Amino acid sequence: MKDTIESLRFRLTKRFGTKTVLRDFALEIRGKQFVTFLGPSGCGKSTALNIIAGLIPATDGEVWIDGERIDGLPPEKRGFGMVFQNYALFPHMTVFGNIAFGLQLQRRPADEIRRRVREMLELVQLPGFEDRYPGQLSGGQQQRIAIARALVLHPRLMLLDEPLSNLDAKLRIEMRAEIKRLHANLGLTSIYVTHDQVEALSLSDWVVVMRDGVLIQAGPPQEIHDQPANVFVADFMGFRNFFPARITAIGREPAVEAAANRMTLCGRTRHRFAAGAAAVAAIRPDDVVIGGEEGRPNTFPGTVDIVEYLGREDEAIVRLESGARLWVRTEARVKPGEAVRITLAPDRVIFLPADEAGGTA
Ligand SMILES: Nc1ncnc2c1ncn2[C@@H]1O[C@H](COP(=O)(O)OP(=O)(O)O)[C@@H](O)[C@H]1O
Ligand SMILES: [Mg+2]
Repeated sequence: MKDTIESLRFRLTKRFGTKTVLRDFALEIRGKQFVTFLGPSGCGKSTALNIIAGLIPATDGEVWIDGERIDGLPPEKRGFGMVFQNYALFPHMTVFGNIAFGLQLQRRPADEIRRRVREMLELVQLPGFEDRYPGQLSGGQQQRIAIARALVLHPRLMLLDEPLSNLDAKLRIEMRAEIKRLHANLGLTSIYVTHDQVEALSLSDWVVVMRDGVLIQAGPPQEIHDQPANVFVADFMGFRNFFPARITAIGREPAVEAAANRMTLCGRTRHRFAAGAAAVAAIRPDDVVIGGEEGRPNTFPGTVDIVEYLGREDEAIVRLESGARLWVRTEARVKPGEAVRITLAPDRVIFLPADEAGGTA
């Protein structure tokens, strides 16, 4: 079996009893890509990964690698590596035993096993750890061992299920860089499951946003971040301000104008609205600027309501004269009760479909 793949293609439906957990969840992944499944807890990410790994069967669907249908193969015949949130190391075995386990099953010669385990420990930056037991290691070290155990078998596909969720914030950032480095240096193809948007954006070539077992939006990180397809994805990507709006004018694509809360808002959209259509205007707190000239587009007067100190920045709620409340992140120091003008950069205001289904796929 080759160490690399050209493509992985699947379509999965999974039911547990009467509950449908994956509904025609379909995707094609190219070799060497880093793909994340991103979505809230319970949306079916682990179920999808476990079906691809062969740990559980799909109710309906197919998994293909390079033109070969593999969903009938047992996990050990798929040539995949798996890393789980809870590390899943064998506690009664040394680090050496844990990493060597798969090679021993393959009846590799002892000197080859020793060499490959040593190489893996260097790769995950834990040289000389052969004789330790998992219980003697920190969480981050255990996760490195779990990664080494998967990599030592030269997997043609790496499947990682929230591998960093049990680590503290600082270590998580370190290990994130580590995983990215290994993926690139070893030319791996990886699927990574997470509910953390920052992890998904920073690691992936391709982000797949899921909700309730359905693929909602898939694309490069920047596209998911800047052009979420609907309110669900926007909310996940850090948009905090949502206003019901009605499209009043459609300019040169993607510019549109809308009425929202008695304001006229200029923004952009990738959705095909008809004039008069209902929409939702969305903007991130950090794209609201304190200041602006009266009468300029997207500049509105308001009053600062609440201010939270976040160190370098403040987070504030500004109540606009129109009645709308706006979350703002700013380095301009503002005080509660202060009269301000705010400006929403037109390329940062996006208009999303008003009905939730509108942005699907
Ligand atoms: N073995 C099972 N039996 C019944 N329901 C399950 C089983 N495994 C998962 N589920 C349900 O399937 C849904 C998706 O679970 P999961 O794939 O673990 O979500 P995620 O990894 O996105 O948090 C959840 O509602 C979960 O309760
Ligand atoms: Mg899960």
